[in-house]
Amino acid sequence: IRDNTGSVGEYVANYIAKRITDFAPTAERPFVLGLPTGSSPIPTYKHLITLVKAGKLSFKHVVTFNMDEYVGLPEAHPESYHTFMFREFFSHIDIPPSQVNILNGNAQDLIAECNAYEAKIKKHGGIELFLGGIGEDGHIAFNEPGSSLASRTRIKTLAYDTILANARFFNNDIAAVPRMALTVGVATVLDAREVVVVVTGQRKALALCKAIEEGVNHMWTLSALQLHPWALIVVDEDATAEL
Ligand code: GLP
Repeated sequence: IRDNTGSVGEYVANYIAKRITDFAPTAERPFVLGLPTGSSPIPTYKHLITLVKAGKLSFKHVVTFNMDEYVGLPEAHPESYHTFMFREFFSHIDIPPSQVNILNGNAQDLIAECNAYEAKIKKHGGIELFLGGIGEDGHIAFNEPGSSLASRTRIKTLAYDTILANARFFNNDIAAVPRMALTVGVATVLDAREVVVVVTGQRKALALCKAIEEGVNHMWTLSALQLHPWALIVVDEDATAEL
């Protein structure tokens, strides 16, 4: 528990930086990092950028896999997760774009796209550290309430609550929010050697409580982390309101 979102970001960024540095990645043995979108990881991204700019960290030998992407939103749309990741993070660090992996929500065959993503993660030897955030309904990536805890990368219809929550990014126009997304599954996240989740703000307080104080439950998919041998949830004071 940290005081505020800024200190959460700094803590998580320093944590990830240490993991990457200790791993000593090379071109033959890159560090494989899973990444989220959303406002929660922005302070983490900001601090990671500062570390890179100060010469204290490099992403030259890091391969990334993003958690999710909207279906049917053009890649260049300002609210696509592709645009978000380059705007908030990738454009400011030294990662070669060829090492960035983001699901293509405009693929002709969406099922094949999801299966190929899983295969590519496997080919890289799995994800070393998956960074995540959660929705107000406790979803991790876009694993909405009711998702199977054994789920893999797939197409997911968004819950109405998520569409409402994300309308703020689409000029509050609910109709403009995509109805579907491609997302890694709960089991894809659990397969990572380590999972780090950022939960900030009072809006997430109930989800945090359900996920860590109650049992493993597919209605609050973050709770699946209880099954993981090496999971860390970093929160601010506001998110602890229901604990
Ligand atoms: C979307 C993303 C999630 C993210 C969530 C929370 O639903 N698919 O991966 O965790 O938003 O976003 P925020 O951090 O802006 O509250």
